[in-house]
Amino acid sequence: MRFTINGAAIDIEVDARTSLLDLLRDHLGLTGAKKGCNQGACGACTLLVDGERINGCLALAVQYQGREIVSVEGLAGSEGLHPLQRAFVVHDGFQCGYCTPGQLCSAVAMAGEVARGLPSNVTQDLSAESIALDHDELRERMSGNLCRCGAYNGIVAAIAETYA
Ligand code: FES
Repeated sequence: MRFTINGAAIDIEVDARTSLLDLLRDHLGLTGAKKGCNQGACGACTLLVDGERINGCLALAVQYQGREIVSVEGLAGSEGLHPLQRAFVVHDGFQCGYCTPGQLCSAVAMAGEVARGLPSNVTQDLSAESIALDHDELRERMSGNLCRCGAYNGIVAAIAETYA
């Protein structure tokens, strides 16, 4: 199958049972997205597909022929870290860091959803856009991404500052 990951065209033979998460981690060396629950409950595996956030552990890779996939490794640009990544550093938006790749990808997609007034994101634009959300709504929209360290205050502060 063929698809794009972080801007690179990939042509690879894939077992029909392989999840998108396992394809990235075990076959393409992209270990940023993490396997937490492996059943769609924690969000550690969040990836962007055509700008929409998905749980990579629940997605069969073969379903994504021709799609544009972005993992946390693809968020940074030529100027360095994505603004949201910098804000996570400033606001201590992590403790152990295991959930961070999923938090970042999910927040980027969430900002796109809000900016367009859509229930789900339809943009591949990874730039930081301005959205107006209070912290309660941010928490609600990020509720699919769990942090077992409880770093939610820093996570929300980083997202709010980035997209203020
Ligand atoms: Fe996919 Fe938890 S590892 S949602």
